[in-house]
Amino acid sequence: MAELVVRAREIWKSYDGREDVLCGVDLDVAAAEAILVAGPNGSGKTTLLSILGGLDTPSRGSVSVGGREISRLKESALAKIRLHDVGFVFQTHNLIDDLTVEENVALPLRLAHRPADTRVAELLGAFDLRRLATRRPIEISVGEAQRVAVARALANGPKVILADEPTAALDGKGSAAVLAAFEVARTAFRAALVIASHDAAVPGLAAEAYHLENGRLSRRA
Ligand SMILES: Nc1ncnc2c1ncn2[C@@H]1O[C@H](COP(=O)(O)OP(=O)(O)O)[C@@H](O)[C@H]1O
Ligand SMILES: [Mg+2]
Repeated sequence: MAELVVRAREIWKSYDGREDVLCGVDLDVAAAEAILVAGPNGSGKTTLLSILGGLDTPSRGSVSVGGREISRLKESALAKIRLHDVGFVFQTHNLIDDLTVEENVALPLRLAHRPADTRVAELLGAFDLRRLATRRPIEISVGEAQRVAVARALANGPKVILADEPTAALDGKGSAAVLAAFEVARTAFRAALVIASHDAAVPGLAAEAYHLENGRLSRRA
């Protein structure tokens, strides 16, 4: 069986003792696999991705990333997991405005005290970003900024990228370019992908399809 990079079992989540947002979610993500989590607004997609990536903790249940149980780790340990083992891409406003494209991509490497130059050059090349290297986020398009976000998410070689509605702010062309970038992340950099979308149809994304609603995650045919 393929190596599991994310394994979630019986994930429950409620905020402040209110109604459960997630009611026993199970999910397995294999190396370099792409998964689409579709579901209406408010169904818990962002909550689920946050728990899978150690941005939040479940009320109950277990989550392992790269074979390591993370659901009960303290914040300092979770911060290390987020830096090394997972990459995040959000809908927009994901880059640091005061840094150039290349500085944004280098940031996770700097935070990890790793040499950056060779890796950044490789990532800028792979995502066709070399000509934008010295621009700031305000000087590039939203679609280009999302490709930078994918490159940055890969900086430290994570096993999985968690992407929360990454194409929701884009038109068809920008969306296709970002999905192509995710496909490069998966095939050339071997990152698994978990992509959340309020839209069940994400044209151009070849992925295992799941549906989240009423706190439950089910696989679609
Ligand atoms: N930090 C929070 N505190 C309290 N309630 C929250 C918080 N985050 C999300 N929720 C609630 O959890 C439910 C699921 O939200 P979310 O995970 O953002 O769904 P989605 O991403 O599918 O739109 C919503 O009812 C939302 O109001
Ligand atoms: Mg959301």
